[in-house]
Amino acid sequence: MQVVTVNASKKYDVKIGTGFVGNLGEEIAPLMSGKKVMLVSDDKVFSLYGERAVSSLEKSGYIVSIFTFPNGEDSKNINNYTNLVEALFDAQLTRKDLVIALGGGVVTDLAGFAAATFQRGVGIVMVPTTLLAAVDASVGGKNGINLTKGKNQIGTFYQPLEVLCDIETLWTLPGEEYINGCSEIIKYAMIVNDGLFELIRDKEVIDQYEEIITRCITIKRDYVEADEFDVGKRMMLNFGHTIGHAVEACSGYKIPHGRAVAIGMSAITKAAVVNGYCTEDTRMQLDELLEQYELLDELPFKAEDLMECVKVDKKNSSGMLRIVIPKAIGICTIKEIYKEECFKWIVLGGAR
Ligand code: NAD
Ligand code: GLY
Repeated sequence: MQVVTVNASKKYDVKIGTGFVGNLGEEIAPLMSGKKVMLVSDDKVFSLYGERAVSSLEKSGYIVSIFTFPNGEDSKNINNYTNLVEALFDAQLTRKDLVIALGGGVVTDLAGFAAATFQRGVGIVMVPTTLLAAVDASVGGKNGINLTKGKNQIGTFYQPLEVLCDIETLWTLPGEEYINGCSEIIKYAMIVNDGLFELIRDKEVIDQYEEIITRCITIKRDYVEADEFDVGKRMMLNFGHTIGHAVEACSGYKIPHGRAVAIGMSAITKAAVVNGYCTEDTRMQLDELLEQYELLDELPFKAEDLMECVKVDKKNSSGMLRIVIPKAIGICTIKEIYKEECFKWIVLGGAR
């Protein structure tokens, strides 16, 4: 087992190993003084791991309530949020008790936001079951839900009490979800020059889960500790995301987050070559790695349509936008540009 400690407004451990779901009762005991637990999951993850989790919690004497919802991005909405906080109320959960999020980024985002706001904050433990949630969504305290008009428009910064990455759960991930997680891992390899790029190029992520997840969380930990509330350095974690979020939105959220970010990383790198920030060799190395993980796609939408989505991106302020530009493998820079200038970057990125 590996442990990465995050020292932000809360200090907590991220444990990376096996067997956590079947041992949840014992894992959470040191984190709470109450006896009630709300287990939040989606229908698919609950059918795979719910019984194991509930049985461990009940064996340790906890009173377990369960809240599940249909799997998929569409569920990250206000209705499910309202239903969840009402379920917390009905279960008479207090600040001595605990919410457990068992699932992918949709579950950790929705449960994280509910835990942050119910009674102005109850404790939450994240148990990510997708690769994407393990390396990104479950760590760092960002959570949020979607408005029909925009993604992640409502949310908080609220750190969990612990994160338990149970690698065993990743064995049931469908191939496309594995690939989505690999996209965020490639993002880390592009922003930090610590050999991660070569590591995942020379050996598949799936064959070195513990090592890769630990390295990604360590990178994320450093950014979160430096800039917990995302006003400066943490924006580096958004490499590929400005165009990526626009791709997701233009597709009506049919293109999943990870794949959309991969399209965004490839496009911004293509534009960075033309604008003289990085070499053609860097672009080729990135595209080859994306290809290796079946993530290399062209921008599938018109620049005008993508721009409409960029305009409502919450990273906008006073007509300016911060984008993350690659300079070399493992080195990126944050640049503030006028929103209108973003159109040129998208065109140079290969938009139709
Ligand atoms: P997801 O939660 O929708 O999970 C993808 C699919 O995999 C779902 O159908 C789910 O039921 C299924 N699944 C989950 N675990 C499984 C398992 N072990 N075995 C089999 N199937 C399993 O999607 P995701 O990719 O995990 O997360 C995407 C979301 O995360 C997006 O909403 C994105 O905005 C958010 N996100 C948040 C942050 C953050 O910092 N808060 C960071 C990155 C992404
Ligand atoms: N997923 C980017 C961040 O947490 O800042």
